Amino acid sequence: MQLDLFSNIGFEEQTPADPVKERIQTLREQLKEANDRYYIDSQPIMSDKDFDDKMHELEKLEQQRPDLFSSDSPTQHPGSDLSQNTEKGFKQIYHRYPMLSLANTYSEQEIKDWYRRVISQLPQQEKVEIVAELKFDGLSISLWYENRRLAHALTRGDGTRGDDVIENIKTIPSIPQQLPAVLPNGEQIPENFEIRGEVLLPWQEFERLNQERLENEEPLFANPRNAASGTLKLQDPNIVRQRKLTCYLYYLLGDEVPFGKHDECLRAAALWGFQVAKSIKTCTSLEQVMEFINYWDVERKNLPVATDGIVLKINDFAQQRQLGFTAKSPRWAIAYKFPAEKQLTQLEQVTFQVGRTGIVTPVANLKPVQLSGTIVKRATLHNADFIQSLDLRENDFVWVEKGGEIIPKITAVELAKRQPMALPIQFPQVCPECGTPLRRNTDEAAYFCPNEMSCPPQIEGRIEHFATRKAMNIEGLGEQNVHLLVSKNIISNIADIYSIEKQQLLALDGWQELSASNLLNAIEESKKVPFARVLFAIGIRFVGETTAKKLANHFRSLEVLQKASKEELMAVEDVGEQIADSIIAYFGKEENQSLLKRLEVAGLKFATTETNAVTENKLNGAKVVISGTFSHHSRDEYKELIEQYGGVNVSSVSAKTTFILAGENMGPQKLEKARKLGVKIISEDDFLQMIS
Ligand code: IVH
Repeated sequence: MQLDLFSNIGFEEQTPADPVKERIQTLREQLKEANDRYYIDSQPIMSDKDFDDKMHELEKLEQQRPDLFSSDSPTQHPGSDLSQNTEKGFKQIYHRYPMLSLANTYSEQEIKDWYRRVISQLPQQEKVEIVAELKFDGLSISLWYENRRLAHALTRGDGTRGDDVIENIKTIPSIPQQLPAVLPNGEQIPENFEIRGEVLLPWQEFERLNQERLENEEPLFANPRNAASGTLKLQDPNIVRQRKLTCYLYYLLGDEVPFGKHDECLRAAALWGFQVAKSIKTCTSLEQVMEFINYWDVERKNLPVATDGIVLKINDFAQQRQLGFTAKSPRWAIAYKFPAEKQLTQLEQVTFQVGRTGIVTPVANLKPVQLSGTIVKRATLHNADFIQSLDLRENDFVWVEKGGEIIPKITAVELAKRQPMALPIQFPQVCPECGTPLRRNTDEAAYFCPNEMSCPPQIEGRIEHFATRKAMNIEGLGEQNVHLLVSKNIISNIADIYSIEKQQLLALDGWQELSASNLLNAIEESKKVPFARVLFAIGIRFVGETTAKKLANHFRSLEVLQKASKEELMAVEDVGEQIADSIIAYFGKEENQSLLKRLEVAGLKFATTETNAVTENKLNGAKVVISGTFSHHSRDEYKELIEQYGGVNVSSVSAKTTFILAGENMGPQKLEKARKLGVKIISEDDFLQMIS
């Protein structure tokens, strides 16, 4: 998101005693917050450019004021994407070599300055080669090969420690899991080494994923990078596999690596079977470097993955060693970032759309403008806060950007072109569709229409969602027909679908015997749809396709799910507080209860019947907490085994816990609590014995 939430918070309004000190503090706070939202939530609150500008400003101010040095400052270490909840999450491992970031610039002049600086710091007669590469816009990954087998795959984390996401990485076909000792050409591959690169979600996959999220009314990913990082942090490798990630490798490390130059390493890595970009070029002059930059600034738009710049690296390792590192980045490398493409256009009108969950989204309708190869006519304004932070007024001229993002964004208003007396854009107080006063929950940015039962776009949206392919798959019940049937009072909710009569359809304009029976057959067929999809179809807020599957697998029937406490809901992978609250609120409503009753009577599947059902009830309802790391199966597999043998997974140790299935390095807090409460601790082998 290109929204800079902080640009109005400054010290300009009053003159503080020490303005530089205050500015430094403000910048440190803003950058820390931006880092957290970017790395932890995969939902950025600042554009990369704003972030980099603020970081540069902070670096300059800190240079001026060494007395204000702080090792905690964002200038001293890169942001951290380490997972916060290690119970639900990944094993965290220390990097063998710290994972640093790169100094970056948006200015060609600074690239020239860097080039001259490195040349001047190296012995005069030495030839200097620069390897120019594309800067891939995904997330960095460090792959460890031990005995030529992929042993760990660490995210950057805080630069010192990363999350081991190996199970997810194994789903990427372009990453070899086992390498041969010798290649057909006789070349040997070292036994142990590390290789780093970038995990990416191709544009095509990104668009598919966002389209799916749009249909499910789930928040969209701002760009492929956020989508890739959100994906790699998922707990279920099967979902990761479906998302078709890819990976380009660009940095080989390790004592056994027998090369003296970076380009030799990359060439070798490509021969060993890694995906290495073909665009890499070894340059011997500044002109060649600039040529590479200018060529790829245009050509990169034809690549299947996102790139946001160029990386320049000194080729020779001896020269790299001479130049060394700063606290955060190597002096032997620099990144040049391409400027985001932007255009100025005029706002024609702001419209307010009401979605199936009642959320009101403001949309900017713009004078059409050409941007990165497409015509942009509309841009989302997100919510009321966004409009306010832009201080958007009627007929304003606005800057639209596409940068790394596929969805156009309004990044700024051109104040110089504002008409005098232009009125601010007002967010409506009542629903534009049904006139009900809008509401806003505390802690949520969105306004919504609470008139769930009779606000037309909500009624129709819910029915359309229910009938979509991934839900009940009722062909013939798309947007148009839903609108028709609702407007003719044939249906007004999802349960009514199952009482539609042929006579009612035949009475509609243009409907014949065939079209009517086709629809009724599709409705009849939908009764066979498995429980997980029914759960997705009923449209509980925040319960997308994946969450519905997990809930269905875990609770196995609607009856059990409805009775689950918040804690029991949150024990399910990927279910956090927001989703748990939403599920409880849904089942707490009488209207929903009566709909569900009718759907059950109609014959929909309200329980899981197929595979994964309890094979044998050996665990007899035991409440099991999993802790530590395991060698025979993954945590996910153990969770499935527990359910398969009639146990229940719970997340925290309490007096009700039957036993803890403990792997290596069980968390000390859990151990302490288990001891205090006298909860049994069972080893991995004993557990397998128990269910065998
Ligand atoms: S080299 C010590 N090469 O950019 C140098 N990084 O802003 C290590 N990146 O964390 C990095 N493409 O995730 C390198 N061709 C490339 C890259 C690249 C993308 C990322 C990488 C790094 C970030 C720094």
